[in-house]
Amino acid sequence: MADDGRVRRALLFMPGDDVKKIGKGAALGVDSIIMDLEDSVALANKQAARDSVVEALTSGEIDFGRTERLVRVNTDTSGFLDDDLKAVMPAHPDGIVLPKVESSAVIRFVARVLLDEESMAGIAPGTIKLLALIETARGVVNLKDIASSDPRLVALMFGAEDLAGSLGAIRTVEGHEVAYGRGAVVIHAAAYDLQSIDTPYVDLKNFDGLRADTERAVQMGYTGKMAIHPAQVEVITSVLDPADEEVAHAQAMIAAHAEHREKRAGVFVFEGKMVDMPMIRAAERVLARAQAAGKLPR
Ligand code: COA
Ligand code: MG
Repeated sequence: MADDGRVRRALLFMPGDDVKKIGKGAALGVDSIIMDLEDSVALANKQAARDSVVEALTSGEIDFGRTERLVRVNTDTSGFLDDDLKAVMPAHPDGIVLPKVESSAVIRFVARVLLDEESMAGIAPGTIKLLALIETARGVVNLKDIASSDPRLVALMFGAEDLAGSLGAIRTVEGHEVAYGRGAVVIHAAAYDLQSIDTPYVDLKNFDGLRADTERAVQMGYTGKMAIHPAQVEVITSVLDPADEEVAHAQAMIAAHAEHREKRAGVFVFEGKMVDMPMIRAAERVLARAQAAGKLPR
């Protein structure tokens, strides 16, 4: 249970059996891509999708650059999970996205499989990350158990469409039917030092709507948002990137903190407001986001 410090603003999904989209996603310079083996892949194409994801990860033909390579596998009740892991793990993706997580059991199970693969391959334990999608009523109810399940879990992701389905709710533009779940996910992520990734916006041509929805997510404390089309990536990252004034303010606050630390003062006043460690940590997060945005050197 720990944020690994990697910046994940936009995470772009594509069907795992669509090699062209994997290549396109890799070329975008997006923070993370999620090659999907689950719901965007037809049942008849599950093996084809595993094959093309492995090919993309291992052939060397696709240059992923800094982009994190994630794979979404099928659920533990689908009958596909074991074969997904067996196929994909030797190709060493950077992380696995688990859909419809409802308890810590599946996370602990997959974490053990990852540990075996890491020890066989001689790579450091914990290298391959886990991200858990919360998108069912039971997943929301069991958030505490899920969020505290395993150190390789780095993020909770919120899926509004499946959650609405599992509730029998009707989707609205305002999203009040999923507000509780959306709030619960970000709160549990913060409580257990995990990143929080907001639901994708499915109205592909409505960029004003996407911007407003991303702003809402940032206001709630979400650290990133899923994307389902390349054109959404720029909007999401631009909302998540800190403004210049925000960066300058964070730098000044950290400098003032360093000065006061010399004098052994834990708490101090900056621009008329009390500052202590939580604000300094928040300021450090702003600088990390500024680095990811290219506004500061890494
Ligand atoms: N990742 C990478 N490339 C993508 C992409 C994605 N998610 N979605 C579209 N593209 C590419 C297309 O291949 C096309 O490339 P081209 O110009 O070289 O031909 C270009 O971007 C424009 O695509 P467009 O015609 O606007 O979309 P589409 O009709 O081809 O695809 C979807 C629409 C919804 C099927 C597609 O965006 C998609 O597959 N999204 C992801 C779905 C998914 O993974 N869902 C699971 C999580 S909810
Ligand atoms: Mg889903």
